[in-house]
Amino acid sequence: MQRSGLTTSTEDSWRRVVIEKPFGHDLESAQELNKIVEDVFPPDSIFRIDHYLGKETVQNLMAIRFGNAIFEPLWNRSFVDHVQITAAEDLGLEGRAGYYEEAGAVRDMLQNHLMQLFTLTAMEPPSAFDADAIRDEKVKVLRSVRRVTPQDVDSFAVRGQYGPGVVDGEPVPGYREEPGVQPESPTPTYVALKLQVDNWRWEGVPFFLRTGKRLPKKVTEIAVVFKRPPLGIFPGGMERNVLAFRIQPDEGVSLKFSSKSPGQEMVLREVVMDFRYDAFGAQLESPYSRLLLDAMLGDATLFPREDEVDLAWQLVSGLLQAWEGTPAPDFPNYPAGTWGPEAADALIGPDRRWRRL
Ligand code: BG6
Repeated sequence: MQRSGLTTSTEDSWRRVVIEKPFGHDLESAQELNKIVEDVFPPDSIFRIDHYLGKETVQNLMAIRFGNAIFEPLWNRSFVDHVQITAAEDLGLEGRAGYYEEAGAVRDMLQNHLMQLFTLTAMEPPSAFDADAIRDEKVKVLRSVRRVTPQDVDSFAVRGQYGPGVVDGEPVPGYREEPGVQPESPTPTYVALKLQVDNWRWEGVPFFLRTGKRLPKKVTEIAVVFKRPPLGIFPGGMERNVLAFRIQPDEGVSLKFSSKSPGQEMVLREVVMDFRYDAFGAQLESPYSRLLLDAMLGDATLFPREDEVDLAWQLVSGLLQAWEGTPAPDFPNYPAGTWGPEAADALIGPDRRWRRL
């Protein structure tokens, strides 16, 4: 490409390269790939695509956080108990065994899509809505995340692989029975991870990330779960308020809180205040068309920068090292159509529960 002159911009034309995720296979290969690409293209013409950043609802996270004054005072360790980020899929492999056997859930979803949702939720407010200001803040929060070493993996992460089961009332094969998958495949199709962010805003507030194939339904959500009221003056337990960003489907944002249930007794019940995207009456655009247009316009705000991609690889490298060295003896450990391995409940527990979605 370079030799044929295809990479050189001229006065009246530009050249840009768009690279689909996962960018590399691990930290070393991502750095190597980056070197090769940067030898040929200047950094501002390289666009690493992560289609989650093109989703309206993901961009709305920034709009809600930084376009309103009421959320910011609550967005920290004083009020937030923990955060749950879920990207569940009911689909299985869809004929992509060649790619997925190499990638698995860590490279396919965790290192990129979930990390992006995490950074946008946890980052500090940027000084401006521009590519560098936003990406600087994203990098800062990734740097504050405590590294999970291969020795610690069992305390901070859970892997899973689906066996045969039932999805939407239909029997489906297990991962190892999918066409093109090795009969003893060690590839995880589910991963849950607990992240700890060592900074002033989030110290002591765990972020739980989970993703998996062949779960009961397709749903992506970020839930900010607040602390319980300090004193329980009403009968029954005190619930935690939840601000949930429904990335897809039923795109919207909801706030769950307790309210008096009508009647003589002072009985509280959880109720939900809900904003739905269909209130705008507009069709949501495909994330790729939005991102490809941005790349043509040269706007890198919604594209991960090299340092961001590298840090995301560093954060999952403990998992990759530990798991690729030792195949899981209990695979498959969740039936298709269920919410993943039981060990994921222990990871979030004992006094917290994954949201029922
Ligand atoms: C892709 C993964 O990046 O994202 C797929 O390679 C996954 O395995 C897909 O199914 C999910 O994207 P979405 O937009 O449907 O949530």
